[in-house]
Amino acid sequence: MGSNAKVKVRHLTKKFGDLLVLDDVSFEVGDGDLLCVVGPTGCGKTTFLNSLTKIYDITSGEILLNDEPVDPGRHNISYIFQGDSTMPWLTVEQNVRFGLDIKGYPEARKREQVDKYLDIVGLDAYRGYYPKQLSASMLQRVGIARAFATEPELLLMDEPYGQLDIELRFKLEDELVKLWRLTGTTVIFITHNIEEAVYLGNRIMVLTNKPAGVKETLNDDLPRPRDITAPEFVELRNRVTDLIKWW
Ligand SMILES: Nc1ncnc2c1ncn2[C@@H]1O[C@H](COP(=O)(O)OP(=O)(O)O)[C@@H](O)[C@H]1O
Ligand SMILES: [Mg+2]
Repeated sequence: MGSNAKVKVRHLTKKFGDLLVLDDVSFEVGDGDLLCVVGPTGCGKTTFLNSLTKIYDITSGEILLNDEPVDPGRHNISYIFQGDSTMPWLTVEQNVRFGLDIKGYPEARKREQVDKYLDIVGLDAYRGYYPKQLSASMLQRVGIARAFATEPELLLMDEPYGQLDIELRFKLEDELVKLWRLTGTTVIFITHNIEEAVYLGNRIMVLTNKPAGVKETLNDDLPRPRDITAPEFVELRNRVTDLIKWW
């Protein structure tokens, strides 16, 4: 990948006091990749994302976005956490506008982006609704529309669908894939769910247990839409499972 990688992580080490969480981690994320990062709970996945967004200072190493030290003040990075991220006092439309307001886009551009992404996620008819009037699935769609509306250079997702039931999860994963393919956004999607990683990613990075290092990075070229019962799918899922084996 080398020089045209979107994200370059070099010798990233993160300690909390004496606790070594990320141990000399190096990898790259290609422009337009949907990289799924799989690793056991507690291995340091959230710590890694928090290092990327500078919520945490790193102990040593560097993180580059477009070959510059990552800086959320200058780079356009969106972050989707687990659970409902909507603001209850704002309507659906205002929630999607929120990121654009922060970034100070001109009014016409805001309206255009809000309309486009509400339409894509199928919430156009609900723009005046408040979060408490929506289902869990719709709430997640508001979150993803908000994230994509700013057309981020990098979208970070931290186990966003971990708590949802399986049917809803697949629907939202399909929604994410649709938006990713439409926009070409570079996405880092964190999960401890192997099936989810194989279903979503075009690349899968498997982490070791704490302190986290990169065990292996695999390509996931299975045709889309993906069939979780297809032999190729099961085979790749088993390969990733063998790489992890944290139980
Ligand atoms: N702010 C913090 N202070 C001290 N220890 C932390 C902090 N954040 C995370 N950790 C520790 O770092 C390790 C990795 O945590 P985390 O990155 O949340 O794991 P994951 O997201 O993979 O489940 C855990 O042992 C956790 O207790
Ligand atoms: Mg976490």
